[in-house]
Amino acid sequence: MSQLTDKLREEIESVTISTPEELEAFRLKYLSKKGQVSSLLSQIGSVAAEERKAFGQKVNELKQQATEKFTQASELLQSQQKTVRNATDDITLPAASVPTGLLHPLSQTLDRIKDVFYRLGFTVSDGPELEDDFHNFTALNFPPEHPARDMQDTFFIRKTDSDEVDDLVLRTHTSPVQIRLMKEQKPPLRSIMPGRVYRNESITAKSYCLFHQVEGLYIDKDVSLAELKDTLVMFVEMIYGEGVKYRIRPSFFPFTEPSLEMDIWWGDEETGKWLEILGAGMVHPNVLRSVGVDPEEYSGFAFGMGVERIAMLFYGIDDIRLLYDNDNRFLKQFQ
Ligand code: PHE
Repeated sequence: MSQLTDKLREEIESVTISTPEELEAFRLKYLSKKGQVSSLLSQIGSVAAEERKAFGQKVNELKQQATEKFTQASELLQSQQKTVRNATDDITLPAASVPTGLLHPLSQTLDRIKDVFYRLGFTVSDGPELEDDFHNFTALNFPPEHPARDMQDTFFIRKTDSDEVDDLVLRTHTSPVQIRLMKEQKPPLRSIMPGRVYRNESITAKSYCLFHQVEGLYIDKDVSLAELKDTLVMFVEMIYGEGVKYRIRPSFFPFTEPSLEMDIWWGDEETGKWLEILGAGMVHPNVLRSVGVDPEEYSGFAFGMGVERIAMLFYGIDDIRLLYDNDNRFLKQFQ
């Protein structure tokens, strides 16, 4: 019997373990329930009574020897694996890129516009895109025969299965929000009203059936045209830079008197041209009256600008349709 245990001891000693597979094979062969150490122990019955104690001890030593060898080999393998893993961790490698979304150029432009007016003390208001005739036209002093009330310019909303035209329209500008605001709040008022507007126009590089405007309204006692001019100049300088060349010329809107338009010079000295960027004016007394504000007591100014126009000038985009195509190759450029 002692021959057997000696043989096994030598065998265990000579085994080399250098892979996880060899480690597992070693465990199965020597340390598992059916392994050689256990089966040796199960033979204890056939050992002469006086030798049993010594035999038992030897087998226990074998078990200890095998267990130690197993633990050592297993620790060694683990530490080797760690160093292998560390060696592949190249901390100079760039991180895997995670694609992130970004704001649409129109949202970025709108944010820029809002920022300017926040700094000038304006709040933000909004109103519905589906408007009624009163807010979109009548309260804004449009006479009944005004061409904007023509089907050619305005999307009128018709009841289903009926030729009857309701008095609902897709708002053609953000000016109706002025009316809503003045009906809700007493002056003094200082607010901008960004939003989507619709025009029944054919789609070209210059025009689209929908676009965005930012309306501005300031109502208080003794508001002057000079203050309007000051606000507009400050606005274009904050958006396009101090050196921006601008001009203000008289214009006409039913809801302002006097009315004006502002252009900025686009391009270099020789090849550039004037481009209109906003309409504005002193709020017409009839508009104040339509919302119950006394024009003898209060006055104010309003302005309206197209966000697409401002974005196209700012980024040098020459086709408005690009802003609506959702082509990622285009949008990606506005990081
Ligand atoms: N609502 C006008 C437009 O759509 C712009 C405007 C707003 C002009 C306010 C004057 C005052 O063209």
